Amino acid sequence: MEIPLQPEPPEVLAELGFLFREYFDLAEKKRRWSIRDDVPWKQCNRNLPPAVADVLQTFVAVELYLPDYLGKLIPQVRANRGRAWMLANWGYEECKHSMVLEDWLIHSKSRTDEQLADAHSEVFAHEWNLPYDNGRAMLCYTTFQELATRIHYHNLRRVVIQEGGCPALEKALMLVAIDEAAHADFFRKLLAVYLKYDRPGTLEQIRRVINTFKMPALHMLADSRRRENDIKNLRIFDEDIFVLEVYEPLLQKLGIHKSELRRKNYKREMVSGNGTAKDVTATRT
Ligand SMILES: [Fe+2]
Ligand SMILES: [Fe+2]
Repeated sequence: MEIPLQPEPPEVLAELGFLFREYFDLAEKKRRWSIRDDVPWKQCNRNLPPAVADVLQTFVAVELYLPDYLGKLIPQVRANRGRAWMLANWGYEECKHSMVLEDWLIHSKSRTDEQLADAHSEVFAHEWNLPYDNGRAMLCYTTFQELATRIHYHNLRRVVIQEGGCPALEKALMLVAIDEAAHADFFRKLLAVYLKYDRPGTLEQIRRVINTFKMPALHMLADSRRRENDIKNLRIFDEDIFVLEVYEPLLQKLGIHKSELRRKNYKREMVSGNGTAKDVTATRT
């Protein structure tokens, strides 16, 4: 039986709210950017290989599910101000990502307005649903996914440079990757708070997520297998990159030993733990 989650006490809610305010103030001061003014649109390379535009369009499609992400994530945390307000701010930052990438597809003449309109219709024909049934698991998922997303953009930028470069796209991808890194960092800090006050319950959710992790919405797109292969073939992201650059660094930063994620060790940890842990053990028998 799954380890139940402890309810969130007021001091935890206060800590999450404080972390959001810290994140927000820093973003306002150092990380705001303008699609129109901060990308050198006149320096757009129209001769990059078509594979770059194909992968970029896949990333745009994943970003386009924003209404589903927000519409389903916010109700899970509506009484948790730090997390709910973050989702509002996160949504603002994420909406810029699909717009700046689409602008490049148009500027570079890789896609027409009509082709992008068709891509929009295709995306919204399917609805994204939450992969996990509780807000804690979704926080774990988001932490892993945001770091994985940063790596996708960073590695696509590397491919662009290798293929002859494009100052406009390189800048856009850098701005987006910096946002994604900030998201990953923020959600990891929240996860650390949950680990501090409810380690067994939070570890259980992390275990669920890492055993089943996949990037959001990718499998819902037409030609999803081909799109995944394009990403792998360009060495933008694959299982090895997930383990070496997402899974292991995150566990290390969170102070989690891999052995803690094995189920048999949960029992030992809980039996030797405090009263709360004993109660939890009882519910698992
Ligand atoms: Fe994004
Ligand atoms: Fe993000």
